[in-house]
Amino acid sequence: MNEKELEPLRREILDAVSGAESREALEEARVSALGRKGRITTLMKMLGSLEADARRAAGAALNRLKDEVEAAISTAANRLLHSELERRLAGEKVDVTLPVEIGGEGRIHPISQTIDELTAIFGEMGFEVAEGPHIETDFYNFTALNIPPEHPARQEQDTFYLPGEHGSRKVLRTHTSPVQIRTMLAERPPIRIIVPGRTFRSDHDATHSPMFHQVEGLVIDRSTHMGHLKGCLIEFCRAFFEVDDLPVRFRPSYFPFTEPSAEVDIGCSREGGGLKIGAGGDWLEILGSGMVHPKVLEVCGVDPAEYQGFAFGMGIERIAMLKYGIPDLRPFFDSDLRWLRHYGFLPLEVPSMVGGLQR
Ligand code: DAH
Repeated sequence: MNEKELEPLRREILDAVSGAESREALEEARVSALGRKGRITTLMKMLGSLEADARRAAGAALNRLKDEVEAAISTAANRLLHSELERRLAGEKVDVTLPVEIGGEGRIHPISQTIDELTAIFGEMGFEVAEGPHIETDFYNFTALNIPPEHPARQEQDTFYLPGEHGSRKVLRTHTSPVQIRTMLAERPPIRIIVPGRTFRSDHDATHSPMFHQVEGLVIDRSTHMGHLKGCLIEFCRAFFEVDDLPVRFRPSYFPFTEPSAEVDIGCSREGGGLKIGAGGDWLEILGSGMVHPKVLEVCGVDPAEYQGFAFGMGIERIAMLKYGIPDLRPFFDSDLRWLRHYGFLPLEVPSMVGGLQR
């Protein structure tokens, strides 16, 4: 069995592969050549019965043929994938001029709704919305926030990395906090911003998604103090959860970029298995906060002897799940219309603070 003898078989298989017009046809061609009972496989099984010299020559020829067929299959698979995509793109059209059918299929996603609510509440308090890039440098995401390279917080916030310039790597931002740095570097105080946006970590389970959302807050002024932090966040929690006398608790905590730091809990009750937000003797953690660390101010060229301020950060999915009783995080990003019809919001019910947060 040499190359010459194999040539008709080779032609036949390669023709079948390159002529395959669907993925099913290609798979058929693959199985008939390389499958368990395929023609090349069968020939390979027969090698054992040949003399040593003949076996070596035939084995080499068959291996070359097998490699060639495998390469041809992979090229054909790529070609089919491409043409399938082309066909689908040509066939699918989205009519962007179609009017929204109010009360029909269209719904506002709970993430968008929650961001609109946050913006309405903080907007009323004089905050502006700021944004920053999803692809960050190590400097903005970590170092400038007082998280040096050896700091354990970096391990807790493992994320996705991209090659950067001059051997440095870029990261998909693990929190919205880098926008604090970008804003302080670009603007002079007084600063009063919120930063709703997408964040990333390499986590995936019922309560963690590799892509999620946070909202950051930053206030910098000459006389801003812890009392402002508390007043602002208590006000926010009560407006957001629409419970006027919602108990709010500040618990000492640690973040590298704030000093002192506090975690914020809201009152709830878990009686009868359900969760009810409001007075009830139990607590739920909802956000992190603190007075901006002097080192962070210094990195941004803000004189800590003249200015101080507070910052906070919270997970948008988490507060949306709590407020709207959504039990699982994963369907947020499944694009399942049944879920969206159930938990989504009507497009014209825009949140506003006129007369409290209204929907
Ligand atoms: N960046 C923190 C995180 O992702 C959250 C946070 C905590 C933000 C305290 C803050 C803050 O601005 O002051 O876990």
